[in-house]
Amino acid sequence: MRLVLLGPPGSGKGTQAARLKEKLGVPHISTGDLLRAEVAAGTELGKQAQEVMARGELVSDDILLGMLESRLGRDDVAGGFILDGYPRNLAQAEQLDVMLADRPLDAVVEFVVDTEAVVERLLRRAEIEGRSDDTADVIRHRIEVYHENTAPLVDHYRGRGLLLEVDAMGQIDDVTERTLAALENA
Ligand code: AP5
Repeated sequence: MRLVLLGPPGSGKGTQAARLKEKLGVPHISTGDLLRAEVAAGTELGKQAQEVMARGELVSDDILLGMLESRLGRDDVAGGFILDGYPRNLAQAEQLDVMLADRPLDAVVEFVVDTEAVVERLLRRAEIEGRSDDTADVIRHRIEVYHENTAPLVDHYRGRGLLLEVDAMGQIDDVTERTLAALENA
């Protein structure tokens, strides 16, 4: 199963991917996690990405392309993967198509949420984890960036017959069940 998860910050992409990877038996690839690992390791790429991420902007397509090509070239993705956080704009979606020319996507799940509820979720996470981009202003900006750059991908993938909309409000277990049911029925 080659799956992309779409949805605004706080919609539960990371939370659900961690559960779906067990059920589907494929790795979870989070571009946010890959970038945060580069920042933590103090690499050149991490230094370039750090400030951009702290502002809630998108890191350059070139950096993401290099990271993804390398990750999707590893053996563990032979049976599929769950992509969380990529693609984030039309250019990245086109680059992904090229990377997956001989193994196209099976489905794209959009997690549909209420904006105020996700702001609350992320402010709660800020108290626990202290992620540098989980401040009230940056959270709102990340949501704007999502609507401007990433939301158009919903129509893009709907037009290709790949989109599955999932209500991502309510209990985490219920969202997992709804996602698995949507994938089964697809
Ligand atoms: P990234 O790490 O991808 O952040 P994001 O998209 O803002 O997503 P989040 O991790 O905030 O939310 P999520 O939807 O995964 O929700 P989660 O499960 O964590 O990206 C960070 C930055 O990296 C970007 O801003 C950008 O700068 C850069 N970047 C990454 N990819 C890029 C790309 N492709 N191109 C360019 N730049 C890129 O849940 C959030 C919280 O809610 C958690 O505390 C969780 O426990 C809780 N929660 C989850 N589900 C529920 C529920 N049903 N009910 C109650 N609480 C819930």
